[in-house]
Amino acid sequence: MIEQYKEKYKTDIIEICYKTGFYGEDLSMFNLFKDKKLFAMRFVLHYTHFQPDYCFVYKENNKVAGYIIGTDDTKKQEADFLKTMYPKMLLRMYLFTWWYSITSFRNIKRFSKPNNESVLDDTLLDTYPAHLHMNVLPGYQGRGIGQQLLDSFMSALREKNVAGIHLGTSSENKKAVPFYEKNNFVLLRQLDGDMWGMGTGVKSLIYGLRLNE
Ligand SMILES: CC(C)(COP(=O)(O)OP(=O)(O)OC[C@H]1O[C@@H](n2cnc3c(N)ncnc32)[C@H](O)[C@@H]1OP(=O)(O)O)[C@@H](O)C(=O)NCCC(=O)NCCS
Repeated sequence: MIEQYKEKYKTDIIEICYKTGFYGEDLSMFNLFKDKKLFAMRFVLHYTHFQPDYCFVYKENNKVAGYIIGTDDTKKQEADFLKTMYPKMLLRMYLFTWWYSITSFRNIKRFSKPNNESVLDDTLLDTYPAHLHMNVLPGYQGRGIGQQLLDSFMSALREKNVAGIHLGTSSENKKAVPFYEKNNFVLLRQLDGDMWGMGTGVKSLIYGLRLNE
């Protein structure tokens, strides 16, 4: 069952974000990022505060098993992220994360800022102003839940006549790439390397979908 996001689901989505945070796999299995809350501050908690209307969860037997979050206006969202969430992240990083987990501290420094503006240029953002993040718990994947979440998000955007959506993923994410391609997202940009800095051959991928065609 799809539901609009509510504050009571905050802990669930922090958990799901972490359990699918490394190319769709559980981050706790790798020694890469121990500060779960900080990871969620970067990737989910701004959206649920900024535009909860575009945030949905999937619930089954009272358990939240997946979410989609996003915005219809990436430029505005990134500006607000820098003004409201980024200072809170910096405070946590320097008061807590550096001694709690130096690996988390080093990793967040690499990907704590919003997307590189030279990649998400004005031409791209005018055509694809919305963007999303979505995660379904292992064990619930491959059952059509991601599809239902994406459909709900796209309906909300279409109601507001939003022109298009973009999203970022990695060539290493073997679940996300076929899912987005099945949903007619097209590859717009491809860059060497990704947020985890995992060696050669790995690409950051930006996909887009027009909604008004
Ligand atoms: C990517 C993700 C959101 C897809 O959600 P899902 O619930 O597993 O996907 P669905 O079951 O709704 O799949 C819809 C369609 O996408 C395609 N698809 C989904 N997962 C796929 C996979 N692993 N391989 C190939 N095709 C896949 C299928 O064609 C499927 O249609 P079908 O059931 O008619 O064959 C989910 O796997 C996930 O959360 N992964 C971990 C987190 C993540 O990587 N998020 C994206 C970050 S960019």
